[in-house]
Amino acid sequence: PRTAVVIPAAGRGVRLGPGAPKALRALNGTPMLIHAVRAMAASRAVSLVVVVAPSDGAAEVKNLLDAHALPDRTDYVVVPGGETRQESVHLGLKAVPDDITTVLVHDAARPLVPVDTVDAVIEAVRDGAVAVVPALPVADTVKEVEPAERPGGPEQVVATPVRARLRAVQTPQGFDRETLVNAHATVALIGDGATDDAGMVEKLGAPVVVVPGHEEAFKVTRPLDLVLAEAVLARRRA
Ligand code: C5P
Repeated sequence: PRTAVVIPAAGRGVRLGPGAPKALRALNGTPMLIHAVRAMAASRAVSLVVVVAPSDGAAEVKNLLDAHALPDRTDYVVVPGGETRQESVHLGLKAVPDDITTVLVHDAARPLVPVDTVDAVIEAVRDGAVAVVPALPVADTVKEVEPAERPGGPEQVVATPVRARLRAVQTPQGFDRETLVNAHATVALIGDGATDDAGMVEKLGAPVVVVPGHEEAFKVTRPLDLVLAEAVLARRRA
C-alpha cells in the first residue's frame, strides 16, 4: 500500500519576523522545506510527496526541489496553496491519486521530525486507525481564557484543564485517505478555524488515536525556534 504526504508550505511565517516565506528560510544553509521533504522521503513507505507552495511561488519551489538531492524512489509534486492552512491542505489532497489509501499531512514548519515518528504514524494507519496524531505531554500548565473585553485589556482565565490529560500534537498526522477527504469536504462547507487535520476528523465523530511524538518534531514558529533547530542539526552531525 502506497503512502502520500501532503506538506502545507504556503504560510508566510509572520511570527518568525520579516523575511522569505517561512518554509523557504534556511536552516544550516538549506531551506526548511527541503529538510521537511527529506524527513518524509526518509520513510521507505512514502511514494509521493505533494508540496503546497505559496500561491505565487510554485515555480520557485519546484526549482528548489529540483536543485536538492532527494531519494528517487519517491515522486514530488508542487501545487499552489490557499489563504489558510486548511485550504492549502485541501488543494494538496486533490493532487493525491485515488489508489493511495494512506495520507499523511506534515507541516513544512516541522523540518526535523525523525523517521521513526513518521513510520509509527504510517504503521498505526495501516493497523486500522482512520486518524493518527503524534503527541507529547505538555510541560506548561495550560489555561483557557476569555478574550479581553476591550483591546489591550486583560484576558480572564475561565478554566484550567487537567494537565496530565493534555497533549501537544505534532505532525505528520496520518489518515485513511477517504476519511480525510470527507472531513475536508464537510468542514469546508461549515467553514471553521481548524488548526490541524485530525480536529476536522474529530468533528465528523471519527476516532483519532495518539502515538508518541518526538521533541525534535517541534514547530519552528518564533525566532528562538530557529536557534534550537540549528542546534539539533549540529548535534546530529557531531
Ligand atoms: O501558521 P502555522 O505555523 O500553523 O502553519 C503551519 C503550516 O501550514 C506551515 O507549514 C505553513 O506553511 C502552512 N500554511 C499553508 N497555507 C497557509 C497557511 C499556513 O500551507 N495559508
